[in-house]
Amino acid sequence: MNKQQINEKAKDLLSLMTLPEKVAQIMQLSYAHLSEEDKQTWIKRGIGSVLHVMGNDAQKYQDMTKETSHEIPLLFGIDCVRGHAMNPAATVFPCGLGMATAFNPELVERACEIAAREVTEDALHMVFSPVLCLGRDTRWGRVDETFGEDPYLSGELAAAMVRGYQGDGEMRQDTGVIACPKHYLAHGESTGGRDSYDVPITKRKILEVFAPPFKKVVEAGCKSIMTAYHTIDGLPCTANKWLLKDLLRDYMGFEGFVITDWDNAGRLMWQQFYSPDMRHAAKTAIEAGNDMIMSTPSFYEGAISMVESGELDEALIDEAVLRVLKVKLEMGLFGERRTGYHNITNPTMACKEHLELNEELTNQTVVMLENKNSTLPLSRNLKKIAVVGPNAHNISAQYGDWTFYTHPKPDFTKVPQSVNITIWDGIKEIAEKSGIKTELTEWDGPKSVYYRYEAPNPQDIQSIHRAAEDTQPNTEKSTNDQPVTPDIEKILKNCQDADVVIAVIGDDPTLNGEERDRANLDLPYAQMKMLEAIKEAGHKLIVVGVTGKPLIVNWAKENADAMIWTFCPGMYGGSAVAGVLFGDINPSARLPITFPLHVGQLPVYYNQLPGWHGEKYIDLPKEPLYTFGYGLSYSEFEYSNLQSPDEIKVDSKEDIKITVEVKNKSNINGTTITQLFFRDMVSSVSTPVKQFKGFKRVFLKAGESKKIELSLPMDELAIVNQDLKRVIEKGTFKLIVGDVHYLEKDFEVI
Ligand code: BGC
Repeated sequence: MNKQQINEKAKDLLSLMTLPEKVAQIMQLSYAHLSEEDKQTWIKRGIGSVLHVMGNDAQKYQDMTKETSHEIPLLFGIDCVRGHAMNPAATVFPCGLGMATAFNPELVERACEIAAREVTEDALHMVFSPVLCLGRDTRWGRVDETFGEDPYLSGELAAAMVRGYQGDGEMRQDTGVIACPKHYLAHGESTGGRDSYDVPITKRKILEVFAPPFKKVVEAGCKSIMTAYHTIDGLPCTANKWLLKDLLRDYMGFEGFVITDWDNAGRLMWQQFYSPDMRHAAKTAIEAGNDMIMSTPSFYEGAISMVESGELDEALIDEAVLRVLKVKLEMGLFGERRTGYHNITNPTMACKEHLELNEELTNQTVVMLENKNSTLPLSRNLKKIAVVGPNAHNISAQYGDWTFYTHPKPDFTKVPQSVNITIWDGIKEIAEKSGIKTELTEWDGPKSVYYRYEAPNPQDIQSIHRAAEDTQPNTEKSTNDQPVTPDIEKILKNCQDADVVIAVIGDDPTLNGEERDRANLDLPYAQMKMLEAIKEAGHKLIVVGVTGKPLIVNWAKENADAMIWTFCPGMYGGSAVAGVLFGDINPSARLPITFPLHVGQLPVYYNQLPGWHGEKYIDLPKEPLYTFGYGLSYSEFEYSNLQSPDEIKVDSKEDIKITVEVKNKSNINGTTITQLFFRDMVSSVSTPVKQFKGFKRVFLKAGESKKIELSLPMDELAIVNQDLKRVIEKGTFKLIVGDVHYLEKDFEVI
């Protein structure tokens, strides 16, 4: 069907629908929260969409729509932020933050095409991904889902994801799924890292920092967008007409449908105290520009009653229904796709091709942070390696949030079935092939890697104090039956004759993910005790971090002989880490996010504005521990000869061509991530000290030199001025190009 036929068909259908059918069509309800009887009732009412359906049920409910008056197919949505990871049989990729460390949009796009195939095979159609929130205050629980702190990198990777899910341009009819970029907008900026709280930012900041990545996904053609839970300067995003209409539709040109986040419409009433009752909440949500309402069953009565009383214009409901129907038609839901794909004879779920691509991507996501005295790569002549720590053999820490382990109704009889290589598995496999003895000390410290005490209960002030004390080394008591530390004696005994100790530390889904914001990012007490004991015993210590976010690892930076880091790397985390440890993989990953020195520095990110009186806290430096773009390699790269035009006309329509030379001075083949930043030296609003605007992965053989071409679109030089206009201002710009070490060159915009 072409666009015109789709429009006509959607309008025909709309003309046949009653008001209750229309309202039901723009609702999405949760599979896990409805009884079987309720599901059937809603399907009969003509509900438009259901989320989180798993197994063969999708097809079962889809078939039931054949019995409804207009036979409009259901649209099934699923959280698929790192592959179709809630299905225990699927391919589980690294989390968004992990993927971002590869600086590789091509592989990210292919990963999402794979995810789309697997989702399609389960007869589902819409993925709530990519996540475009910026991870700038890392106390926030959901940093793992982001692509890190930078709007340019986030926009590039998110657009790649949209192409992967939906297709480049037209929707792939057989396996394209609707991408749903979220959470619109600036969800990660909540005050104090408190999820879904108030975000005190201005329209100018929105236009400058948070809207550009969303503009890129709109340009990539995303068919839906999810709004966010929070308020911006007191106004709930769900009620923000400027955000949902003026900015999204008029300025960015978005044509798909807007879906609320979970019960956002209801929250207008019971959480944000914006609407007095559900009738008014329904009216507000629709008038502000939401087209599909997620998980608010009472929206049904509320919206119907408001239209019937003449307080809500039915034409607005019609617009929303049309948008939803058009997307269903575009993706072929009324045609062959209605019968689903899960009965296909040639299933691709976690097939060889999918796993191979996952492995290739994961291998690019291990960041080497320290390598003192060339401790790494490990020699194959070692006699024994001791492996310790809570995340050494912990697949749920590798998976993280929005996977099988955190599905609203996980079926623990179906523990993930495909490849699952823990860090221990990976090390053991390579070591054994080389005749190196390995020994794992299973973690017997606290189960939740954090709390020595029971989780704090907000009603009990003592429990809060105890939790806050949790990283204080002078308290040795525990109030639950969890041990305070692991059995340190046992660890030391097992490490005794080891040439090297690999300590795998970090967090897990009890400490990261949605609703798991943290006020303290220190390494848990039990883990610190373990590290200190190993060091004190004089061992060579390699620290491996497996986390959903940067933690405070000052001690490890100082004291470990080497440190490498992965953000929820998924099923191949173990082989990727081991590959780097033994030098089979030369690490190419770079940090997409800054590691703070102390939680008091937050929010900390590289692209801060200049101009802090004193330039530091009196009790802390302003510099973080590791910053955006950092990461070591076994190769040594030298950049030289940075070239660009010296003068560029302010109204030029051409991209700015920049070249730089790079040489691999080492005798090891390796990949450098060439990073392009600039600084606008004088402008009518203060701009960041550095802005990231381009990158390239460049492979260089040992000794090889290459000339790298980068192109910087003119529009990227624009600022948002005080009149909220995007303008390029004349003056000096400083280019900053390189990888860990950077060259600089000025050019003039005239
Ligand atoms: C999250 C969304 C998610 C939705 C559906 C919400 O709580 O904020 O990111 O897509 O639930 O599971």
